[in-house]
Amino acid sequence: MRLDKFIADHTEYTRSQIKAIVKKGGVSVDGKAVKAADMQIDPQKQSVTVNGKELMYREHTYIVLNKPEGYVCSTDSKDGATVLELVPEELRVKGLFPAGRLDKDTLGMVLLTDDGELAHRILSPKRHIPKIYLVKLDRPFEIKYVDQFKSGMVLENGEKCLPARVIGVENNEKWAFVELCEGKYHQVKRMFAAVENHVERLMRISMGGLEIPEKLGKGECIELLHKDVEKLFLPLDFEEFCLKKFVIFSSYLINK
Ligand code: URA
Repeated sequence: MRLDKFIADHTEYTRSQIKAIVKKGGVSVDGKAVKAADMQIDPQKQSVTVNGKELMYREHTYIVLNKPEGYVCSTDSKDGATVLELVPEELRVKGLFPAGRLDKDTLGMVLLTDDGELAHRILSPKRHIPKIYLVKLDRPFEIKYVDQFKSGMVLENGEKCLPARVIGVENNEKWAFVELCEGKYHQVKRMFAAVENHVERLMRISMGGLEIPEKLGKGECIELLHKDVEKLFLPLDFEEFCLKKFVIFSSYLINK
């Protein structure tokens, strides 16, 4: 692979900036400053340093963000402050995008990647991985929601949802967990609207078998190890998971 292509793929530098850095002696391969930006390298075997910082070879980048309110899941800053702004510079590779969307006022787990194939595997309607949300409701949870959600809810505009799971939280009557295997626009909010309740606050806490790490604060990111990416396709025990996680994740929604 050409050295300048490798650097361009792993940093925010343009090709002409890279050329200038190489010219100033700012790029080393295996510890030696190089003169030609177009030299061939083997990024899996050789180490490349740009302005003193070693670039780590990886084919793709996977990041879990604990999204705060106020950010849009878009790559276009015309839409407002985007989730990409929350990604630390060293992880901001070219082509990074949020694989799936949360509303501007929804918190929680967003996966950012430059791997289009993985995003397709997660989002394709045929194989939508289950996602769990914690919901703070305006009115108490009613047990009849369990069957209404299970039987494929019809939204107010007539759209039909796939069967979904919902459970209320014991001794916390205005809280619920929902598990969806699809991603319609404002889906959780519209499902509760269809049963004459209202979502006050919403947080996505897991995607497939991958949950937000408990120590990941609001607005923080963590890079996923490649071996952990496959957890997206593993199952998670809905009821057991929700039971264990209520105290931790409700604190994000209670403390603004
Ligand atoms: N459902 C919603 O209503 N909003 C989200 O952000 C995600 C799911």
